[in-house]
Amino acid sequence: MVEKQNSPTQLRLKAMNWNNKIVFITGASSGIGEALAIALAKRGASLGLLARREEMLQELVAKVESNGKALALPADVTDANAGKSAAEKLKEHFGRVDVLIANAGIGGITDTKKLDAEYVAKVININLIGAVNSVAAVVPFMLEQKNGHIVAISSLAGYRGLKKSSAYCASKAGMSAFFESVRLDLAGTGIDVSIIHPGFIKTPLTSGRENTMPFLMELEDGTNRIIRAIEKRKKSYAFPLPLASFARLGLVLPTSVYDYIAGKKNYRE
Ligand SMILES: NC(=O)c1ccc[n+]([C@@H]2O[C@H](COP(=O)([O-])OP(=O)(O)OC[C@H]3O[C@@H](n4cnc5c(N)ncnc54)[C@H](OP(=O)(O)O)[C@@H]3O)[C@@H](O)[C@H]2O)c1
Repeated sequence: MVEKQNSPTQLRLKAMNWNNKIVFITGASSGIGEALAIALAKRGASLGLLARREEMLQELVAKVESNGKALALPADVTDANAGKSAAEKLKEHFGRVDVLIANAGIGGITDTKKLDAEYVAKVININLIGAVNSVAAVVPFMLEQKNGHIVAISSLAGYRGLKKSSAYCASKAGMSAFFESVRLDLAGTGIDVSIIHPGFIKTPLTSGRENTMPFLMELEDGTNRIIRAIEKRKKSYAFPLPLASFARLGLVLPTSVYDYIAGKKNYRE
């Protein structure tokens, strides 16, 4: 009898088991990063948790300790050396780094009529350069292992410009392009790259906004969707579907039509 062979993709899907996976999460002290940490610890992963607020990281370590193992790695993602030494500590502690979730980020309003270039630089430095630093910190280990998974938490806001969001949109558009290039560079090395484009999720980043955020998701729903996309090693995942479809449509609309529609939408006060 001829035994049915699994394709390489099937083998990878089969192999996706969080148990004993070493996952490095940036921006782990609140919102999506914290929720991912809790959910992945329940699935058996060991975690490296990076953010600036050490106390919150220590609280999270205590929370997930009963499920998995976790290490607080207080650092600022804009500091390349601090990111590198955090990744080294993680590798020293657990022996490997299997997954990077480059999630650290800030939002914020930017109104071009009162443009604060320093603030724009800050947002781009944290959201884009911070993610670049995180990738630089783990890629040498993953290349050595001939295995790894790099996950970028980008945004639907990276598809096209939005009102009062120039810094955020630019940072996320840059992030998506950066990680796409990273994927092409790493093809054939055993390292996969997933770019996640969430819509609105209830976290401290979106709290307190008066303007309507369409299809606003509960944190648990958003986190579960992200985890499923990582498990399937999706190259790109945009959600929720209605908003993602609208964002994709925006990419092919003539600019004047896009400007007309987007000019009427204001997701920030
Ligand atoms: N919520 C949404 O609707 C939504 C939608 C699409 C994409 N996203 C993206 O998802 C990611 C997480 O956002 P969130 O909604 O969970 O927001 P959040 O609750 O405000 O969490 C942001 C995290 O990033 C960390 N962070 C910020 N600046 C940092 C820095 N310089 N160095 C290290 N860590 C830093 C924060 O920790 P510390 O302050 O302790 O450093 C915090 O843990 C962001 O990249 C965001 O753009 C969110």
